Amino acid sequence: MASTHIRHVLIIDDRGDALAAYLSARRTELVCRVRTATTVADGDSRWADAVVGFATPISCEGSSVRWVHSTGAGVDALLGPRRWPDGITLTRTTGALGDRMAEYCVGHALAVCQRVLPFHRDQRVGRWAPVEPITMRGTTAVIIGTGSVGSAIAGQFKALGCTTIGISRSGRTAPSFDQLYPVDRLSSRVQGARWLVLAAPLTPLTRGLVDATVLGRCRDTVVINVARGGLLDTTALLDALHAGTVTGAVLDVFDTEPLPSDSPLWHTDGVVVTPHVAGVTHVEEAGEAFLDALAHVESGRRPPSAVDPTRGY
Ligand code: GLV
Repeated sequence: MASTHIRHVLIIDDRGDALAAYLSARRTELVCRVRTATTVADGDSRWADAVVGFATPISCEGSSVRWVHSTGAGVDALLGPRRWPDGITLTRTTGALGDRMAEYCVGHALAVCQRVLPFHRDQRVGRWAPVEPITMRGTTAVIIGTGSVGSAIAGQFKALGCTTIGISRSGRTAPSFDQLYPVDRLSSRVQGARWLVLAAPLTPLTRGLVDATVLGRCRDTVVINVARGGLLDTTALLDALHAGTVTGAVLDVFDTEPLPSDSPLWHTDGVVVTPHVAGVTHVEEAGEAFLDALAHVESGRRPPSAVDPTRGY
């Protein structure tokens, strides 16, 4: 990598002002320009040496941009469907997202075991109907994605006594998993899984991965999606919920966000909808990840947070 001098930083983010203040306080020579998805214009990318964003595809062609940094872990929206331009480094922020997403997953799994929603429904009508809670211990979690997020999730499920099965592109070992399999073994592994957790990036390989075949093999499984809506076939999920192979779904991410008001997911029994909050990046995390990558970019070294654009993570 050639060393690159970075001075003009275009930030396209709703929390852009806070991020600009964080960066400028630490590197006074940086000049930050803050835009949102709706206010960014072509002239901005011609002005910028580096772009920071999450959800807005950046047009780098014909611009001076040499580096794009994602404020999130998933870079699918930045990559978009186009071929990533040669010579432009793409980095991402992971921070402590894995720990937060792991708490989200086990929190919702425990809520299912402890029957939080059914008991609350009973309480509202003054109904006394004892049903013994089930335990997490002894159940199996199949976790798609074995990177830092998937491993953090596996660690929390293991701490509660679950068997953890990881599914990844390679099936190579990763921390906190009892067993690991390549992605073509997914549908044979979901049988017997109480929890099917989606924690992989959205790439051409994972798009639509959890489909009718996979969901049809489930038995009394709760699906938890903290990855991207595109990994999960929503129609197949609704069919599986009606058929009873899947008995619950905790969904934090959707094909379209915000989730449209006419989506059947809002009203389907057993579905919990949350508004993409499982792994929110904090401004300081995005700032630190940017500054760490900046030191590498400026000295011509590949940042450890660099993404392979063809692989998508
Ligand atoms: C959140 O969705 C992220 O990709 O960081």
